[in-house]
This record gives sequence, structure tokens and C-alpha cells, in this order.
Amino acid sequence: MTKPEACIFDLDGVIVETSDAHFNAWQRLAESLDISFGEEFNEQLKGVSRRKSIEKILALDDRELPEDEIQQLMDKKNGWYQDSIAELTPDDILDGVPEFLEQLQEMEIPLGIGSSSKNAPYIIDYLQLNSTFGVIIDGNKVENTKPDPEVFLKGARALNADPVKTIVFEDAASGVEAANRGGFVSIGVGSEEYLGAADLVIQNFKDLTPEKLFNQISDK
Ligand code: BG6
Ligand code: MG
Repeated sequence: MTKPEACIFDLDGVIVETSDAHFNAWQRLAESLDISFGEEFNEQLKGVSRRKSIEKILALDDRELPEDEIQQLMDKKNGWYQDSIAELTPDDILDGVPEFLEQLQEMEIPLGIGSSSKNAPYIIDYLQLNSTFGVIIDGNKVENTKPDPEVFLKGARALNADPVKTIVFEDAASGVEAANRGGFVSIGVGSEEYLGAADLVIQNFKDLTPEKLFNQISDK
């Protein structure tokens, strides 16, 4: 692939590792409801909205609750989650990510965030990444959550980029599906086991240069 028109990054699990904090808070909530789930089920919660996550957890036990209770449960989980992310600092940005972003900036490639999280603005603040991204589309700005491509399509539009010539970086199967459905070049960040639908899977950003990556994409 030649130089892309833009690069859009998922936040949780790509720029910073927050999935354990999400997992722990959901597990704590599920335990209080006498519902249990493990890491494999947790993969299904990655990338999807808070609302969809609670629905999936309740469905594990065919549980139906009134709307106000569902709302209270989501607030409780979010309170625990927010307590844990309040500790984040720029040192928590994943290895190799700052260098990779810097190189993209030097190449004058527009950068965006496409996240399902309504907490994304806080996380970006804690990580001091506000000036790095030309656009931040998060869970507050979309109607349809991943695997719907809305979040990435809005990002590409704001960056004036053609999805076909835009790279999306994602750690969740739902996010890879969203990128593929939107016609983007999808890069899975993590394990081939869950992200096999991506155009290319990388383990992480350590020692990765944009040039190396673009070459690998054209090699496919
Ligand atoms: C995604 C996470 O980025 O955001 C999901 O991968 C999470 O696990 C979703 O459920 C919504 O996050 P929040 O912060 O709005 O509850
Ligand atoms: Mg993610």
C-alpha cells in the first residue's frame, strides 16, 4: 500500500490497555448478580458499547430487568471503571505507539480516534494526546456501535479521507468487522485467533514503522 489518506485508531486495547479494567468492573458487576463469565466471553465485550455489554451479560442467564435497574447497573460499572482509569498517565500509552504516531505525523498523515467508549475524552486527556488526533469520534458521537461502521465512517469524513485508502487499527473482533464493513483497510492488533478477519494482524506496535507496515499491506 502507498501512503494512506488517514489512519484511525481504536483507543481501548490499541493505544492503551484498559481491557482489564473493563473486564474487572464487568466481572464485579456480574458476580453481584450471580452471573459468571471468563476471558473468552470477555472478547465479545471488547469494542461494543456499555449498553450492548450489559445486555450480553444479562443474556448469559436469560435475565430480564427493568430499564431503571439496567441503567443503575451500567452506572455502577462505569463508576468502578472510572476510578481505575483515573490513574492513567502518558506512561501508560502502549509500547511503540508514541514513536509510531510521531512517524505518521512526520509523514503528514491525518490521524483520528474511533472508539465506542463514552469515556474516551477522559482517557485522551489523561494520556495527554489531545493535540495528536485531528478528530476524535467516540461513543458520545455515534448512534450505532461497532460492528456498525458509523464511528469510522464519521472519522474518515471528518479527516476528508476515502475509507478505501484509510487504515483502521483495532484490537476487537467487532471493530475489525466495523472497519471491513466500512470498506477500510483493517489492521488487527493482537491475536490472529480473534482478529483473523482483518486484512493484516500485528501483535503490537513495538519496532513497527509505518513504512514496514505499508509494505506488508501491499504484499498481501
Ligand atoms: C470500548 C471497549 O472501547 O468501549 C468496550 O472496548 C467498552 O469494552 C466500550 O464496553 C464502551 O465503553 P464505555 O467507557 O463507554 O463504557
Ligand atoms: Mg478496543
